[in-house]
Amino acid sequence: MAKHVVATVAEIPPGGRKIVTVRGREIGVFNLGGAFHALINRCPHQGAALCTGAIVSRLEAPVPGEYRLTRPDTMIRCPWHCWEFDIATGQSWCEPDDVKARTYNVSVEPGEALAKGPFTAETVPVSVEQDYVVVEV
Ligand code: FES
Repeated sequence: MAKHVVATVAEIPPGGRKIVTVRGREIGVFNLGGAFHALINRCPHQGAALCTGAIVSRLEAPVPGEYRLTRPDTMIRCPWHCWEFDIATGQSWCEPDDVKARTYNVSVEPGEALAKGPFTAETVPVSVEQDYVVVEV
């Protein structure tokens, strides 16, 4: 898989998101407390723009009448039918065994490393002896 630069870290502050297009795919890039995650901007249920939905917390109810919010601001709620997905894994909490949103690997890399690129020119050692330049090939 090829790497694509989609934003600076400053463009997506904690709690923020940016929707980008990479190779024809809309992808939402999220910053959850300093950890970056990427999710396809297409809900696996009926195709809504998933990454435009509200970022919510997971709600658990261990017994009827008692509930608690867990994993604050780590889920995304689809704007059409309100199915919720884990932003980090794409797992649906409506049908966890059958429905999952596509996720992508995200990394933060220093600009210096990206500017270097993956290619280097071939080099050969050079030495000067007396008045001659000798190239070792
Ligand atoms: S299209 Fe997303 S929940 Fe239906």
